[in-house]
Amino acid sequence: MSLLEIKNLSYIYGSGTAFEKKAVNNVSLSINKGEFVGIIGHTGSGKSTLIQMMNGLIKPGEGEILLDGNNIWSDPKKIRNVRFRVGIVFQYPEYQLFEETVEKDIAYGPKNMGLSNEEIKKRVKDAAYFVGLKPELLKKSPFELSGGEKRRAAIAGVIAMDPEILILDEPTAGLDPKERVRFRNMVRKLSEKMTVIFCTHIVSDIETIAKEVILIHHGKLVQKGNIPTLIKEMDGKVWELIPDADELESLLEQYPRSSLVSRNMQTVLRVVNDEKPHNDAHACEPVLEDVYLYHFGDDNA
Ligand SMILES: Nc1ncnc2c1ncn2[C@@H]1O[C@H](COP(=O)(O)OP(=O)(O)OP(=O)(O)O)[C@@H](O)[C@H]1O
Ligand SMILES: [Mg+2]
Repeated sequence: MSLLEIKNLSYIYGSGTAFEKKAVNNVSLSINKGEFVGIIGHTGSGKSTLIQMMNGLIKPGEGEILLDGNNIWSDPKKIRNVRFRVGIVFQYPEYQLFEETVEKDIAYGPKNMGLSNEEIKKRVKDAAYFVGLKPELLKKSPFELSGGEKRRAAIAGVIAMDPEILILDEPTAGLDPKERVRFRNMVRKLSEKMTVIFCTHIVSDIETIAKEVILIHHGKLVQKGNIPTLIKEMDGKVWELIPDADELESLLEQYPRSSLVSRNMQTVLRVVNDEKPHNDAHACEPVLEDVYLYHFGDDNA
């Protein structure tokens, strides 16, 4: 049995109003224990809405969420337990911090779980260590931390609850490239202990750590699969050529699923297309970014 199973889930904001928006549209998927799943989609594609339903923060309009085979809404009084089992680090985790000190902030979740003071202390210390927060920062106000440190504190607060599933919503947004790499390593380490769901619109965030990926677009699941398999399916669909300056514009227009790369002082056009786009083009090795481009490249909405 899957650890988390979602069946025909939909969510509408502002139902019945002029602003009605179907943010999640009939999504079904399942996630097994120990998996590391990436959820990729453009801004506004419904990632945050989808994951907030996964831990019972918002209730689906239609569909079911099963945790260990049990519908999480079968007893609404027990929904708090679901939130302990499925932890979310929100998109802007700095807004998640509100206590006087970092230590109290990390302790907030475990305290709500009704753990003993001794256990809380241990969990705070272990979680801070795990995310690489120096002990001297624990007594500081969360507002005195740097952006990267605030992220770490917010993650520590969630992992201190020892959730079975950890959901990270765009955890690297706004971090500098070095911090981003450190983050990835930390998440990789976390994934050895728990099931991880990582939402992002940045493909490189997950391509080396996730095994499975889910692509969502306008609230719908468009693809789910094992990353190497999805990449393999792109064989013969990814092309490169060095375009003449006068044909570049028309090629870009003709092939919206394309990107420009600078290599050896030359501009290389990389095109994702079923057929060879140009006589001078040669097939090249696909990567995960090409899968993303194939599905979304001609629609940046
Ligand atoms: N509270 C809300 N009220 C009304 N509409 C909302 C609300 N939150 C999100 N939406 C709309 O629902 C859709 C999905 O939003 P959501 O935040 O789930 O997308 P996302 O994939 O997480 O985007 P991003 O990458 O920008 O975080 C968007 O069109 C958004 O404008
Ligand atoms: Mg979001």
